[in-house]
Amino acid sequence: MTRKILVTSALPYANGSIHLGHLVEYIQTDIWVRFQKMQGHTVHYVCADDTHGTPIMLRAEKEGITPEALIEKVHAEHSQDFADFLVQFDNYYSTNSEENRALASGIYKALKANGKIATKTIEQYFDPVKTMFLPDRFIKGECPKCHAKDQYGDNCEVCGATYSPTDLINPFSAVSGATPVRKETEHYFFKLSECADFLRDWTRSGTLQAEAANKMSEWVGEAGENKLSDWDISRDAPYFGFEIPDAPGKYFYVWLDAPIGYMASFKNLCSKAGIDFDEYWKKDSSTELYHFIGKDILYFHALFWPATLEYSGHRTPTQVFAHGFLTVNGEKMSKSRGTFITARSYLDHVQNPEYLRYYYAAKLNGSMEDIDLNLEDFVARVNSDLVGKYINIASRTAGFVAKKFDNRLTLPSHSVIDDMRAAAPAIAEAYAARDFARALREIMKLTDAANAYVADTAPWVLAKDDSKTAELHAICSNALEMFRLLTIFLKPVLPNIAQAVETFLNVSPLQWADVATGLGAQQIQAYNHMITRIEGKHIEAMVEANKESLQPEAKPAATETKPLSSADEIAHDQAEYISIDDFTKIDLRIANIVSAEHVEGAEKLLKLMLDIGEEKPRQVFAGIKSAYDPATLVGRLTVMVANLAPRKMKFGMSEGMVLAASDERGGPYILAPDSGAQAGMRVK
Ligand code: 2FM
Ligand code: ZN
Repeated sequence: MTRKILVTSALPYANGSIHLGHLVEYIQTDIWVRFQKMQGHTVHYVCADDTHGTPIMLRAEKEGITPEALIEKVHAEHSQDFADFLVQFDNYYSTNSEENRALASGIYKALKANGKIATKTIEQYFDPVKTMFLPDRFIKGECPKCHAKDQYGDNCEVCGATYSPTDLINPFSAVSGATPVRKETEHYFFKLSECADFLRDWTRSGTLQAEAANKMSEWVGEAGENKLSDWDISRDAPYFGFEIPDAPGKYFYVWLDAPIGYMASFKNLCSKAGIDFDEYWKKDSSTELYHFIGKDILYFHALFWPATLEYSGHRTPTQVFAHGFLTVNGEKMSKSRGTFITARSYLDHVQNPEYLRYYYAAKLNGSMEDIDLNLEDFVARVNSDLVGKYINIASRTAGFVAKKFDNRLTLPSHSVIDDMRAAAPAIAEAYAARDFARALREIMKLTDAANAYVADTAPWVLAKDDSKTAELHAICSNALEMFRLLTIFLKPVLPNIAQAVETFLNVSPLQWADVATGLGAQQIQAYNHMITRIEGKHIEAMVEANKESLQPEAKPAATETKPLSSADEIAHDQAEYISIDDFTKIDLRIANIVSAEHVEGAEKLLKLMLDIGEEKPRQVFAGIKSAYDPATLVGRLTVMVANLAPRKMKFGMSEGMVLAASDERGGPYILAPDSGAQAGMRVK
């Protein structure tokens, strides 16, 4: 049965470049879409730039251009990046469109008619210089908990506390530097609290991955729990967005019209391609709707969005597929390490987008786990699987077909070919389940079998023996049929290579159903090499080019206005820092130096016995002999790392580490706490 499927990827903000973190999602979605299209289903894949909100407005202002000019420039850049990574949208649009304005207004009016909109006067910080209300991320000040300076209005990056901007000490506007004043304003709310029963059912009806469903159920709560608060959907002027109907000076919050942007992009496609929009969005539609997103924006897609659709008279999503974040070499992407890599920079240095598509596919299993791009493994894997194994099948046999048989094949037939056909349903099932890793493992097993066949039959030996010509012809034809089948299986991941193979084998664009057909005794084209090895030096150059100096950059005034800012933005902002969780792993304690003595045979060390309130003192060897007479240390308080793994030294076990300062000006100077500190107190 032909299915009608509408697919989306999250809409990227129109104020930043596409990077390798974003591409996980677009590549994942594109592979899935291409696979479904190869099955013969009707699939529409739409996306758009997410253009509204305060950051985009301020960014345009900073660049001295209008928001419209900024979003137009970014739209062109994003479109090119996606095209070059072979992400084939059926439409790539903008949330700042007339379709979106009309749909957002219509949905709002329907929600209002359904009694789901309320107004409430709230008090918010207002910048008296810039004359605008300030979103939380645009207010900074001193953390009320740990007193760290220069913290955002919603949470402290030093101690991790969350609070509201009104709790900040000495708040200031990150836009103008002025002290904000509190001012009352009327806001519009979507009564999410009244949608709990619907959302409880919806989130548990197979629409979400198990781990996402659990999380959402927690947020929604059990019947009678009232855990959901109403959702503030308005912002005051000046704001770049759509004005709310009949509410002059009030604008839709960017997250209200962003997902409606999925519909708007589709609507725009419908008018160009003659598709029936309502068939896809009406209540109880028999078409399917899938949203691919990052796990950081689940709240918006699994609560706000289905509720918005339900109470405005539309269908709800069939499923929401969330994926994890990207790490590079096991760590968050970092500008200082050069691993915050833009799509463009990858293309400039590595060039071939299919390498990255293949690598991501090999790591994606349909879960919400993070995936790691290990750059060494990337080179090794692509070279081994794609160049060494897959392409090798054609490159080791095509030459003989050209030289000896004038590029004509003989009818293929072999048990490995049969095995490949038999494996097709399992591979298809893995693709459909977004377990691309499993699909590729199966495909690589078959690739190994094809290579073993070529190695065992050694066509290069037969080619020297004129009496073996028929055998040689059969072997090469079989190998190329195996190559054709593997190409069908890999086509969702490697569409360009597949196209080159179609030209080489003289076949029409391969569909999944072509697994059942086969090459005949047919003419093929001359073989041209299709892919080259990646060289490590290109990766090194790319990392080098993306490295930014370790000097702390002036932090942007803010990155997002939404409550949960997109995770890669957070990763970006914090790349040069450790998290509070990393810091709290270190157990620092006030230690009383019970005894200190020279160590025989040790040039630099003193042996210290340190009381940190435990049953017996710890023995620590400290490299401070050059600066201290042991006798002067006894009875002093200092700071030690208490949870450093014990280390066996030549002179005995060292059970911790004492902290001391030094540089070319002198030292080491051990640390001392202020008076009042007691042995065993935690330093944090
Ligand atoms: O998190 C983000 O990057 C948002 N721009 C995603 C929006 S997705 C959809 F809802 F529009
Ligand atoms: Zn703090």
